[in-house]
Amino acid sequence: MHNNQRSVVVLISGNGSNLQAIMDFSNGENYRVCGVISNKPDAYGLTRAEKSNVPSTVVDHRQFASRELFEVTLAEAIDKYEPALIVLAGFMRILGADFVKRYQGKILNIHPSLLPNYPGTNTHQRVLDAGEKLHGVSVHFVTEELDGGPVIAQESITVESFDDAETLALKIHEKEHILYPTVVSWFADGRLRLEANGAYLDEQLLPETGERIHAS
Ligand code: GAR
Repeated sequence: MHNNQRSVVVLISGNGSNLQAIMDFSNGENYRVCGVISNKPDAYGLTRAEKSNVPSTVVDHRQFASRELFEVTLAEAIDKYEPALIVLAGFMRILGADFVKRYQGKILNIHPSLLPNYPGTNTHQRVLDAGEKLHGVSVHFVTEELDGGPVIAQESITVESFDDAETLALKIHEKEHILYPTVVSWFADGRLRLEANGAYLDEQLLPETGERIHAS
């Protein structure tokens, strides 16, 4: 067991397979998932947290009159866990400027495309419709710009003629489950940092596409 584990809170909205990968990898690692927060009461990721004895909280966005009010309660729920890092793992709410500023440099997101290409939703279908041969996944720091914060790492996949949105999602998930825990572990080791001009890994400014990982 690592004797100086950093606390990580994971925010989810659904299945939570990335949450699972991050929890599984954390065993003996330099970080520990100390809490899971979902904006959806029926997210399967909540069951995953329970099975791993990780406490969880639901902050249902539908119970709030505005995004600002939702985010105040979300921040309170996060702060109870006193995390060093907030990890968005399939968390499908856009976060406002005040929220992002409050946790500047402490929020990571995973996005299923090779950013800066294909920000937003429905990326697999859009990649197919555009006839792309290359697709992939990015982990980035969250800033006020939607899917626009500095990229930390990417992993690519090839799009085959027989692929559809479902097979692409499967291939992407496989990459995500290696990439995301790796980046969380870099952060926990103090190797990663967000500066005004971009993301730094081991004191080196990363290029626009981040570090290319070839874990498989
Ligand atoms: C992942 O593929 C992640 O990249 C994507 O949602 C999926 C969640 O899967 N995130 C986004 O689209 C964010 N805009 P999971 O719930 O099984 O981890």
